[in-house]
Amino acid sequence: MNSQTVTKSDWYKKMSFYQIWIRSFADGDGDGIGDLYGVYDKLEYIKSLGVDGIWFSPLYPSPNADYGYDISDYKDIHPDYGDLDQFRKVLDKAHELGLKVIMDLVINHTSDEHPWFIESKKGADNPYSDYYIWRDKPNNWDSLFEGKAWEYVPERGQYYLHIFAKKQPDLNMDNPKVREEVKSIMRFWLDMGVDGFREDVINFISKKEGLPDGLPFLPAAKGMPHYKDGPHIHEYLAEFRQVCNEYDCFQVGEGPMTTIKTAMDYLTGPTKSLDMMFSFDHMMADCFYTEYMHRPFSLPKLKKAFSSWQYALEGKGWNALYMENHDHPRIISRYGSHYYWKESGKMLAACYLFLKGTPFIYQGQEIGMTNIRLPSIEHYMDISSKNNYYNYHKKEDPDKRLKRIHLSSRDSARTPVQWDDSQYAGFSTVRPWFYVNPNYKKINVAGEEKDESSILNFYRKCLKLRKSSDTLIYGKYKEYFPKDRQLYVYDRCLDNESYLIICSFSRLPVKLKRPDKYIGKKARLVLCNYEKEGHIRGFLRPFECRIYRYKD
Ligand code: NOJ
Repeated sequence: MNSQTVTKSDWYKKMSFYQIWIRSFADGDGDGIGDLYGVYDKLEYIKSLGVDGIWFSPLYPSPNADYGYDISDYKDIHPDYGDLDQFRKVLDKAHELGLKVIMDLVINHTSDEHPWFIESKKGADNPYSDYYIWRDKPNNWDSLFEGKAWEYVPERGQYYLHIFAKKQPDLNMDNPKVREEVKSIMRFWLDMGVDGFREDVINFISKKEGLPDGLPFLPAAKGMPHYKDGPHIHEYLAEFRQVCNEYDCFQVGEGPMTTIKTAMDYLTGPTKSLDMMFSFDHMMADCFYTEYMHRPFSLPKLKKAFSSWQYALEGKGWNALYMENHDHPRIISRYGSHYYWKESGKMLAACYLFLKGTPFIYQGQEIGMTNIRLPSIEHYMDISSKNNYYNYHKKEDPDKRLKRIHLSSRDSARTPVQWDDSQYAGFSTVRPWFYVNPNYKKINVAGEEKDESSILNFYRKCLKLRKSSDTLIYGKYKEYFPKDRQLYVYDRCLDNESYLIICSFSRLPVKLKRPDKYIGKKARLVLCNYEKEGHIRGFLRPFECRIYRYKD
């Protein structure tokens, strides 16, 4: 079905999205930085994957302290990426191709170079004075990116709150004028024709009254109660929801440390504040948030996270499914294997694309891009990696710290997309703003286009299969063998049809286990990540995945 014509209530349920972190996507104007000219040229490619929409990470003017998540103008395009005219061209062409477009809405904080903050800093008696959170005395909160969460401004003689970097002051959402600004930003983009928003750390926008001291930031602590799910969050989101309701728009919220219980308030509460939420639970299968605490991958943890969300939301809410984005290292390097690159890359696609929910695929994930290992911390650009190296883990031995960065830096997701095997991986004609992964000769779009059995073509097959059956959209989820440490097995059932997804996370052959129903004649294999049969009977090959269809 054409994504432009599905009904308002559930068009997002049938969709899958492709996420663009533009700086590293495709350089169309030859300055080494990805841009909207590059995006324009690649829209057919995106469409060819079988996705139905694009989520743009921030495209707005930004000093790039946090690569776009520090916005200095919400109603324009960063000159590095083009301008509003070029954005409109991209939007129109995307719509012609049947692709929806959603924008990143970053409203917990702005850049300290945003005119509101520049004014606000001047003193307590200007119109923007209460746009941010100012205090005479800081409380004990830690920031996520840079030491303490408060910074002193001599000009104003007060401290401002920044949950993220110093250059990302938190907006005061309790101020109705700020909420009006947010609505005006939403309308600006919706009037232009965008179809919705991915809402950055949306569960942080209402803070506890009086900003009392809280637990210091401990990665293992159950969330950060003083930052998240504040007392007015649903009130404020209801106001934003009203704007969305004036348009045929949808909202997916990013919810760090969101538990199922709190997510339910957002998804099913009286205001139905959001359509979907990105949870981080499955990202804890090896590390917390990005890189605070890396630990060996645990399949049972991954399965438990997936299953808990699948079961809890059944019939009540809708899942946002992802394995990669710009904040996490690449999955093959985390949950798969470089040796079994192709097999594990495909298996990792199947393991989540058939879950119940709306899948998001991050640029480069579809060709199996992997982590980069840069020689020193100075080569890394990401503020959070630097903070973890220099502050959070400062007592550790430097080699150990660098190893941790290799495993977990967000920069591994931010290397230029590998389009072909020419110089700079076809990303640009000049040296790109960031390092190209040296494996681009082997891993690139052009090569995988030619290979029927590539990871790229497997993503296409999975998305095609997902779309071909209502069972894979609406069917009930059930997990089998939850205690198995090598296999992830689940099925999706609707009426008399069901699909069984079996994924091996093992480098060694493992015994194939199937519920009885899928052994008889009514079941047939519809997709597998190995081209040829010929496996040892009854065993799965390394990282093999098999998808069976059962029809009564
Ligand atoms: C979540 C975004 O995905 C991440 O990239 C950013 O650093 C933080 N929010 C702060 O905006």
